[in-house]
Amino acid sequence: QVFHLEDYKPTDFLIPETHLDFSLHPERTVVKSTLQIERRAGVASDAPLILDGDDLKLVDIRLDGAVLGDNAYIATPDRLEIRGLPENGAFTLEITTEINPTTNRQLTGLYRSSDVYCTQCEAEGFRRITYFLDRPDMLSVYTVRIEAERNEAPLLLSNGNPKDKGKLTNGRHFAVWHDPHPKPAYLFALVAGDLGVITDTFTTASGRHVDLGIYVEHGKEPRALYAMDALKRSMKWDEDVFGREYDLDVFNVVAVSDFNMGAMENKGLNVFNDKYVLADPDTATDTDYAGIEAVIAHEYFHNWTGNRITCRDWFQLCLKEGLTVYRDHEFSADMRSRAVKRIAEVKGLKAHQFPEDAGPLAHPVRPRQFREINNFYTSTVYEKGSEVVRMIRTILGPELFRKGMDLYFERHDGDAATIEDFIKVFEDASGEDLSQFALWYDQAGTPNLAITYDYDQATKTFEIEIEQSLKPTPGQTSKKPMHIPVQFALLGAKGRELKPRSAKGGLVKDDVIHLRKRKERFSFSGIPERPVPSLLRGFSAPVTLTSELTRTDLAFLARNDGDEVTRWQALTQLLNAKLTSNAKRVRGGKPATIENSSIKLLGEIAFNVTLDEAFRALCLSIPSESDIARELGANIDPDAILGSRDALISAVAEAHAGKFAQTYSELARVGSFKPDAAGAGRRALRNVLLDYLSVAESSSKRAATQFKNADNMTDRAAALGVLVQRFGDSDATNHALQAFEARFGNDPLVMDKWFVVQAMQPGNGALDKVRELMTHKLFSLDNPNRTRALIGAFSSGNQTGFNRADGAGYKFFAETILTIDKKNPQLAARLLTAMRSWRSFEPVRREHARESLANIARETGLSADVRDIVERTLA
Ligand code: ARG
Ligand code: ZN
Repeated sequence: QVFHLEDYKPTDFLIPETHLDFSLHPERTVVKSTLQIERRAGVASDAPLILDGDDLKLVDIRLDGAVLGDNAYIATPDRLEIRGLPENGAFTLEITTEINPTTNRQLTGLYRSSDVYCTQCEAEGFRRITYFLDRPDMLSVYTVRIEAERNEAPLLLSNGNPKDKGKLTNGRHFAVWHDPHPKPAYLFALVAGDLGVITDTFTTASGRHVDLGIYVEHGKEPRALYAMDALKRSMKWDEDVFGREYDLDVFNVVAVSDFNMGAMENKGLNVFNDKYVLADPDTATDTDYAGIEAVIAHEYFHNWTGNRITCRDWFQLCLKEGLTVYRDHEFSADMRSRAVKRIAEVKGLKAHQFPEDAGPLAHPVRPRQFREINNFYTSTVYEKGSEVVRMIRTILGPELFRKGMDLYFERHDGDAATIEDFIKVFEDASGEDLSQFALWYDQAGTPNLAITYDYDQATKTFEIEIEQSLKPTPGQTSKKPMHIPVQFALLGAKGRELKPRSAKGGLVKDDVIHLRKRKERFSFSGIPERPVPSLLRGFSAPVTLTSELTRTDLAFLARNDGDEVTRWQALTQLLNAKLTSNAKRVRGGKPATIENSSIKLLGEIAFNVTLDEAFRALCLSIPSESDIARELGANIDPDAILGSRDALISAVAEAHAGKFAQTYSELARVGSFKPDAAGAGRRALRNVLLDYLSVAESSSKRAATQFKNADNMTDRAAALGVLVQRFGDSDATNHALQAFEARFGNDPLVMDKWFVVQAMQPGNGALDKVRELMTHKLFSLDNPNRTRALIGAFSSGNQTGFNRADGAGYKFFAETILTIDKKNPQLAARLLTAMRSWRSFEPVRREHARESLANIARETGLSADVRDIVERTLA
């Protein structure tokens, strides 16, 4: 079944109040739902009430207290239809269902994870608990009573504020929660179990006292302290930067170990993948800490952008997700180094969203149709959605952007809103016409800007001509020109910014070129010397550039650009040109060639102590194998790419080994571990140097020593990575892997790093390694984190190991996807997207990939989730 945006229709009925009564039992949980229902004005009095269900078993049903006769309703596992409703259209419906949380392996609805009952209702999981109008525009005020065995579940949590609790007979007890804020069913949550907790408090700007709690497995409480700190900083930041205060008396976060995604913003009761809560120096890397900070902030920020203002329908998903990602990006930028954070975002966007936009799964930021909404929690909706919000700010400027956001909160609080509503507040706040800009929500694909320059010495005029183009994407053949903000500077000698006297041609405001036509010329007067243009500063739009900048210009920007994003981008572009041409040479049986100039440039950056260490680390990290594959775009041969990349790394390593070693030692004196940006930067730089040095020295000794002496997981995991990547099956590597397992073997979350690092081992041997690790006692295809660590890392991260020329990687993957699909369709579908770029491989691999995809598609019992992905991928 295909759902279309144009088909949106409000419901015939409203549910102003919902009372839920849970009697928890591992296999037979009974849910009694009491709904106050009203027919909407103007709806015919014989209109039936049709509620959504999924895999439900109806036990009892009453209308205004009376048991419904068999012919008054039709109940199937996925639908409840009631006819002959009261004339006046207002009535109470009591529905009792029975569900089994233990056998629920798809992890949506109510399920049990490590003996803890928890829920995941977004997008359509609530209908697996009880029959309901399970759609985001159906707002209701919830009261929830939970009853359970006292021993099994001393803790009983739901949304909103606690109202009542008490003991019952037979060792049972109960709690009642009330959430005064009307909300859609996807924000409902319940957690019950035996968990440890850390508590804290926060007082809002207007004086509301909020009790904070983070619930984790007993014994892991100290590992939740960083998350608590991040939560309090998020609450303060949202007040300072967006004027948004928290609105309940309690805010609870629960960490669970079986979770399909990162976390979920249920009102007042966020449920998290434990990966995004638990951290201490011994078990978490700097990346883990940054991830926790970002996800805690993201879910908290949803309280306003998502919960107080929700989405009218699931086509509007980016209304809450794109905006909330934008907010968490800004939060992290304020907490850490803005430039380094921005470069990480650009890298992420290019690594994940650009390939999505360029392949068979491309879709607009706001899709117009879907078969399975769970397949649209994508990096296009999230990350490109965030870029679109960022562009609005770039176009309007910070003051008008804030004015528009204030208007959004004021006008739409309590609404289920649309993208049109969102755009309108910025138009009203600024007086600008954003109708052309709004195409960013509708047109899929990454625009390319082809840029040419012209400097006229006589008139001191510099001209930039930009032509935008956008390739067809599935379902969209012709595209209209978009409004693209290109932030820029014209650089003179030493990177000094040359301020034009005037700008003519298209619209230029301050440092932003507003490209609005297919092809436009911008002319700048009063430019005393031939400038080098620094374009797309701060990555002001999610586009690709083809410019006629020479290698000399790029090297100039890499040395002098005052904007770190364009500076890094120039260096990357230089390296990519080399890496792709060498990959082609290697594929043709020729040796890679490397000029001294690139080696020299990388050395200058590496040793430039005026630069941030994290920035130096980013510059020294040679584009990854998948980055190079993406640059090549077609006829990809991962083995040739690996050869090209290693040739560059060796050349740089050998040329600078002495100074690298010196810097590596100097950086060792960092003092005790702190998970802040500065410390993380030093560790990042030191660890990229460790890789170069291990290559230059052709010895595992340095990495083995670092592994042994590390006093934190960042350094330990980095050393282990170098050992596995560079020294494969050596004694040193095996020894380190064993030591890691001996130490962390009872902590699955930490062991995920051990699975990942081995799944990423380059070359043909990886597949057997992965097969072997699947039999490890900690491994289980029932657990999403384990599955992603091994199968996910292998398929989406191991270029040479997965994309084997004999197709064995794809064959194994297809079989594994079918196994996972039987338990957890959402997870299977998500993993399968690893094959979305199959058409860009060289013909032999491409044919193997097609065959494996076709084998999946031929399967009869596929879930809707996997069927949707596999059919679009092959289309
Ligand atoms: N709303 C959650 C978040 O972004 C993610 C929910 C994902 N749901 C899904 N069905 N994939 O924080
Ligand atoms: Zn979100």
